[in-house]
Formats: sequence, structure tokens, C-alpha cells
Amino acid sequence: MKIVMLGAPGAGKGTQAKMIAERYGIPHVSTGDIFRANIKNGTDLGREAKAYMDKGELVPDELTVRILLDRVAQDDCKNGYVLDGFPRTIPQAETLKKELDRLGESIDFAIDVDVPDENIVKRMGGRRACVTCGATYHIEHVPPKKEGICDVCGGELILRDDDKPETVQNRLNVYHTQTQPLIDFYTAEGVLKTVDGTQDMKDVFNAIVSILG
Ligand code: AP5
Ligand code: MG
Repeated sequence: MKIVMLGAPGAGKGTQAKMIAERYGIPHVSTGDIFRANIKNGTDLGREAKAYMDKGELVPDELTVRILLDRVAQDDCKNGYVLDGFPRTIPQAETLKKELDRLGESIDFAIDVDVPDENIVKRMGGRRACVTCGATYHIEHVPPKKEGICDVCGGELILRDDDKPETVQNRLNVYHTQTQPLIDFYTAEGVLKTVDGTQDMKDVFNAIVSILG
């Protein structure tokens, strides 16, 4: 099963992709997480990506596509995967399609987690991420057991650099101009499904499971 998660920044793609990965036993592949891991490890890739991410801009397609195709060529992706944050532009979607065509494969579901911009800005201010393992929390909706400390690994919880209000607004603009056209792309492919992302996260997940079967 190959799944693409679509949706604005903060719509809950990562939250849902993680649950899908656990339920269906397929890897959760997030280009944002790959970039953040590289930033943390001080790699050249991390340095290059950070310059774009901190402004809320997209990392260039050429670089992003190369990283994604390398990741999905790994053994654990043989039986499928859930892509979170990729594709994000029409050229990325077209390259992925071409590569899958070549393998005689295709995307089975593109799930759009739909949340209006007003809700997004509120959500982002409350998100906290673990500096060590990347686990995500929300100060109201998913609080950690102990304030500021990750339940999973005991790491420190911080506001992501790109979750400052000015950057969130730019990420939303970038989303509407560059990523939203993918809704039409995957509608034309016949695989688009939309879920209401403003519901409680368990209800969002139930809606997704009823689509995936
Ligand atoms: P990326 O890491 O992909 O960020 P994003 O798309 O902006 O999305 P987020 O991770 O912020 O949100 P999410 O939808 O995963 O929401 P979450 O589940 O955390 O990308 C970051 C940057 O990397 C980009 O700006 C770009 O620079 C670069 N990049 C990445 N991929 C790229 C690509 N393909 N091409 C080019 N550049 C790329 O939820 C958000 C919060 O809300 C959390 O606190 C969560 O607990 C809470 N929450 C979730 N669901 C609910 C709910 N139902 N109700 C209430 N709260 C909820
Ligand atoms: Mg995410």
C-alpha cells in the first residue's frame, strides 16, 4: 500500500501518518523529518535545507526528489509506505509518478487532511517537538506527562524554528500556491480522498482507516 498525505502545514499529516504506519506495518517517510535529522547531525544537506526551512520556503525539488527516491528504494519500503510532506509541488509528483510507472507501481491513496488556515495558526503555536527523537506534542491536545520533557526518550521539548507565527504564515502561502494544486493532480489520478482534519485526532484516524480498509 502506497499512501501520500496531503494537507497544509500543521494539518496533522505527521500525526496521522505515524498512526497509519503503526496500524498497517509500513514505514512513515517524512521529508521534513529527514531534513531535520540532517540539520541536527550537522550534515551538508542539513545546512542547505535549513536555509529554506527557516524562511518557510520549500527546499529545491532536485534535492528533495533525490532524497525521497533514495529512501523509498530501501528494503523496508518494498511493501509500501506512507509519504508525509512529499510530494509538495507538481514537478515532485510527476517525478514520483514517472519512477513508480517505471516499476509498474502507483500511489493507491492520496489523503487530504483538510483544515482551514484559521485553525492552523492556533495549532502551530501549541506544537512542541522533541529535540532528541522528534516526537510531537501539543500543549493542549497532546500534552506530555511532564511539561517540556519527552514521554518517549526524556529529551527536551521545543517550539520548531519554523513554527513562529511569521514563518507559519509564509508556509501557508507557499502551501496554497505550490502544494494545493496536487489536489487536482491526485483527483485526476483517481486516488484523492478528503478527510475533515478539524475533528479530534482519533476521529480523523477512524475516517482514514475506513478509506484504507
Ligand atoms: P514538514 O516537516 O513536512 O512540515 P509541514 O508540512 O509544514 O507540516 P508540519 O509537520 O508542520 O505539520 P503536520 O501536518 O505534520 O502536522 P502535525 O501532525 O505535526 O516540512 C517542513 C519544511 O521542510 C518545509 O517548510 C520545507 O521547507 C521542507 N520540506 C519538507 N518536505 C519538502 C518537500 N517535499 N519539498 C520541499 N521542501 C520540503 O500536527 C500539528 C500540531 O497539531 C501538533 O502539535 C499535533 O499534536 C496537533 N494536532 C494534530 N492533529 C490534531 C487534531 N486533529 N486536533 C488537534 N490538534 C492536532
Ligand atoms: Mg509533520
